[in-house]
Amino acid sequence: MTRQIKIFDTTLRDGEQCPGASLNPEEKLDIARQLAKLGVDAIEAGFAIASPGDFDSIKQIAQQIKGPIICSLARAKKEDIKSAWEAIKYSDRPRIHVFLATSPIHMEKKLRMTPVQVLATTKEMVAYAKSLCNDIEFSAEDAGRSEPAFLYKVVAAAIEAGASTINIPDTVGYNTPWEFGKLIENVIANVPQIKTNNVTISVHCHNDLGMAAVNSLAAIKAGANQVECTINGIGERAGNASLEEVVMTLKTRRDYFDCSTGINTKEIYRTSRMVSNLTGLLVQPNKAIVGANAFAHESGIHQAGMLRDKLTYEIMLPEDIGLTESRLVLGKHSGRNAFADKLKEMGYNLTEDNLEKAFTSFKQLADMKKEVGEADLAAIVSEEINIVPETFKIELIEVCSGTERKPSAKVKLQYKNSTTVETAEGAGPVDAVYRAIDKITRLKPNLVDYIIQAITGGTDAQGEVTVRLKEGEQVYVGHGASTDIILASAKAYVAAINRMIFLQAQNQAKGLD
Ligand code: KIV
Ligand code: ZN
Repeated sequence: MTRQIKIFDTTLRDGEQCPGASLNPEEKLDIARQLAKLGVDAIEAGFAIASPGDFDSIKQIAQQIKGPIICSLARAKKEDIKSAWEAIKYSDRPRIHVFLATSPIHMEKKLRMTPVQVLATTKEMVAYAKSLCNDIEFSAEDAGRSEPAFLYKVVAAAIEAGASTINIPDTVGYNTPWEFGKLIENVIANVPQIKTNNVTISVHCHNDLGMAAVNSLAAIKAGANQVECTINGIGERAGNASLEEVVMTLKTRRDYFDCSTGINTKEIYRTSRMVSNLTGLLVQPNKAIVGANAFAHESGIHQAGMLRDKLTYEIMLPEDIGLTESRLVLGKHSGRNAFADKLKEMGYNLTEDNLEKAFTSFKQLADMKKEVGEADLAAIVSEEINIVPETFKIELIEVCSGTERKPSAKVKLQYKNSTTVETAEGAGPVDAVYRAIDKITRLKPNLVDYIIQAITGGTDAQGEVTVRLKEGEQVYVGHGASTDIILASAKAYVAAINRMIFLQAQNQAKGLD
């Protein structure tokens, strides 16, 4: 009989631990809403004790997102477990996820605990969590490098203390699929409490050797029925198992795994774009399932085969992940209603204000670009959603550059009802524009990333620029799209500066700074 595999998404917890991926509470809420639409079984919304900001956003998600289980991570410590409960208790389906390391190196060097202490703490802390919340998951951190016999004892103890999900992580991405599958098989065979208590066996694999998704699949084959994963595979170091890879493998190779999930795969592409936009972590073009080239066929032989029968080179359809062809959808004569209807059809629900701004951007684009496709519209929307107040607004950008002159720029920005003009020279036109902007804003943010990519093919394609600015530990992302790449660069930079000003003011008001 086909087995149902539960999908536990940890984009907002392990994914957010990825360097530079920090999200603000509104962004986390938007992602959680989209994850619910995607159909995940559980959302790990954060690590409540980690910071007041994390606590608040878990609480908001627990209060507002209906459907999936809402979970917070907690170390095996009373204060962590209490804080996790306080944040998730508003959910209809709360879960506390308690973790404690079981490998010799983690116990000795990190925890400075003996195996006997780890066993006792597991019992005590799982029982404490159970006294607060009915749904408890326990993770034996670094299980992939633990002594099997000790791991079985800890797993049995956690179940007897009340855990209904046992998670077996390959924390450092060290295992091979053969070893990891065997480990899961052995845990199930050696801990009778798993069967008698109908416990869910979960896996959580990291990608240090590029095997996170395949290790998760080997574990499923061996009997695991929950997979912990993240959108686009983001996460600590090389990341976690990517949700889209695990889910699409189960769907495409149903003949081999005989397993299904509750994921609405048509939401995968949109979720991937959203996570990439909000974190500023771009998806590599050759990334399986959601990369720009995942469904592109370049070689003549492949194209000829595809024309005869798509199945010659395509094992799944782009439509299955919600990727519709970037065909001409609207033109320069399309009106506001047609524009709004098209966005609705694509699944976007913009406020009146944002719709108006998006429509203005669309009209400007349609004047410059012959064909406006869905990818263009998605780029416009990603500029308009989650927009923060425009403290600085671009009024004019002019650049001079070329082989015979030092690049220079003139920039006019609006700030509170007045405008300021500045000029600057730079190493290139973008550098000159950014220097002129810095003169006006009197800020000198640390630019850690500048990424430009074409949204569609053709020389009239829009360029989409993503920049990431860093101040302290906080990263601020900005996007800009235009057929003029210098303007797109300026828009992205100013958007990130506006976001930085807005979020810093918000944090100050909340006393979080
Ligand atoms: O990688 C890991 O072991 C974890 C645990 C906290 C589940 O993220
Ligand atoms: Zn992890």
